[in-house]
Amino acid sequence: MTSSDYDPAKEGAETDFTQRMSYGDYLALDAILGAQHPLSEAHDEMLFIIQHQTTELWMRLAIHELSAARRAIARDEVSPAMKMLARMSRIFEQLNNAWDVLRTMTPSEYTRFRSQLGQSSGFQSRQYRLIEFLLGNRNHAMLKPHAHDLETTRLLEAELATPSLYDEVLRLADRNGLKMPATVLARDVRETHSFSEGVLQAWRIVYEAPETHWMLYELAEKLVDFEDYFRRWRFNHVTTVERVIGFKRGTGGTGGVSYLKRMLEVELFPELWRVRTIL
Ligand code: HEM
Repeated sequence: MTSSDYDPAKEGAETDFTQRMSYGDYLALDAILGAQHPLSEAHDEMLFIIQHQTTELWMRLAIHELSAARRAIARDEVSPAMKMLARMSRIFEQLNNAWDVLRTMTPSEYTRFRSQLGQSSGFQSRQYRLIEFLLGNRNHAMLKPHAHDLETTRLLEAELATPSLYDEVLRLADRNGLKMPATVLARDVRETHSFSEGVLQAWRIVYEAPETHWMLYELAEKLVDFEDYFRRWRFNHVTTVERVIGFKRGTGGTGGVSYLKRMLEVELFPELWRVRTIL
C-alpha cells in the first residue's frame, strides 16, 4: 500500500462532520474564502484583493495585541505586555515580507484593473487608522473619510478619547520613579504627543543605567523595535507604490508617493529615538 491510498480514518481520523464542528466551520472559511470578488477579468486582481485582505486580518490581530498590551501596562503587568509587543514586531515582519508577493505585479498588470477601484484606497482602512491612533499618531483629519460611517467614526472617536500606548508607558514610567513632566501626564490625549525635553531627560536616566532600570529599558526597546518594523512597512509600501504607479495620484485622491513619503516622517515615540543622540 502506498501513502496515496492510505486511509487515515483507520487510525481514528474523524471524517463524519454531519453533527460536529469542522475545521472550516471553526474558521468560518466559507465567509472568508467567499469574500474575493474581482471586478475585472484581470488575472492580477485576485492577488491585489488577497494581499489587502490578509493585511487587514493581520491588522485585526495587531489591534488585539496592542489593545491588550496597553491594558496590561496600565495595570502594571509589564511582562505580558512585552510579549505582546514582541509579537507585534513579528506581525509587521510578516507584513513586510508580504510586499515581495505584491511586487511581482508589474505596472502594466495593475493598469488592467486599477480603474475598477474607483476612489477606494487603503487610505480609508479603518483598522490602519485605529492602529495609528492607538500608537499615538492622532491626526483628526483622518476621521473625514469615515464620516459617512457612524460605527467607524464612533470607534475612532472612542480611541481618540483613550490614552495611547505611549501615554500608558510614560505613566507607568512615572509610577516607577521616573518623573515625567506633569504637562505630559495631564496632556489632552486626543492630540498627538509632541516631543518633550522632560520625557527625553527621563529616558536618558534609563538608558544611561539600563541595569538599574531594566524593566523600563526593556519596554522602551520593545517600542523602538516595533516602530522600526512599522517604519519598514511604510517604506516598503511607498517603494512598492512608486514601482507600480510611479508618481500618479492615488485612487484615494492624495498625491500618491509624495503623500506616502511625508508619512515616513511620522515619529511615534520621538524621545526614544532622540535619546540615542545624547548618550
Ligand atoms: C499596488 C499596490 C498598492 C498601491 C498602488 C497603493 C497605493 C497607495 C496610495 C497612492 C496611497 C495614498 C492614498 C491615496 O491617494 O490613495 C495609499 C495609502 C495606503 N495604502 Fe496602499 N497601495 C498599494 C497596496 C497596499 C496594500 C497591500 C495595503 C495593505 C492593506 C495598503 C494599505 C494602505 C494604507 C493603510 C494607506 C494609508 C497610509 C497612510 O495614510 O499613512 N496599500 N496606497
